[in-house]
Amino acid sequence: MITLKDFEIHKAYLPPAAQAAMVEDLREVARAAPFFAPLTPWGKPMSVRMTSAGRYGWITGRGGYRYEPRHPDGQPWPPIPEAVLVVWRDLVSATRAPDCCLVNFYGEKARMGLHRDADEADFGWPVLSISLGDPGLFRVGGLERGDPTASVLLESGDVVVMAGPARRAYHGIDRIRFGASRLLPGGGRINLTLRVVD
Ligand code: SIN
Ligand code: FE2
Repeated sequence: MITLKDFEIHKAYLPPAAQAAMVEDLREVARAAPFFAPLTPWGKPMSVRMTSAGRYGWITGRGGYRYEPRHPDGQPWPPIPEAVLVVWRDLVSATRAPDCCLVNFYGEKARMGLHRDADEADFGWPVLSISLGDPGLFRVGGLERGDPTASVLLESGDVVVMAGPARRAYHGIDRIRFGASRLLPGGGRINLTLRVVD
């Protein structure tokens, strides 16, 4: 059975100054690749806003969940910021870079339903997640949707590595504590997920 212990949670991995610098890097990403409001494959709007950096971006819509080499506006995605790659090199791999850095923005009412990250070719590569801004209640389950779940609060600067059995486990964000962090002036939470795609 998969439990919270299978998720490698690095509390306060990024000190406050590094968090603030990373937010500035992400502003640059969002200038080149503006946040958009995604639709599920069933046409339902998701509550997060989304963009990406890297060789691929993760996209959803009527065409299903997929990776695309271009932003919906037709431009290639901007490069993954160096400070983000440094975290990946430290915790995942010094030799293989991630292909995609998905950037999710959670506003006051945003959440992310339980799901598995399953659009990648090789589940041997971990998923790395970086949390910035308001705390989010992260729920983790097992390999089946009905498995028992547990939750943990992810705060600004926390980094999670989903590797081994956790790589294929259900997970999601129940809600955020809007306005509890001062990192983003308007409130909200940013989560980055880094993945090897193909
Ligand atoms: C996700 O799994 O897509 C996001 C997780 C998070 O926001 O912490
Ligand atoms: Fe995910």
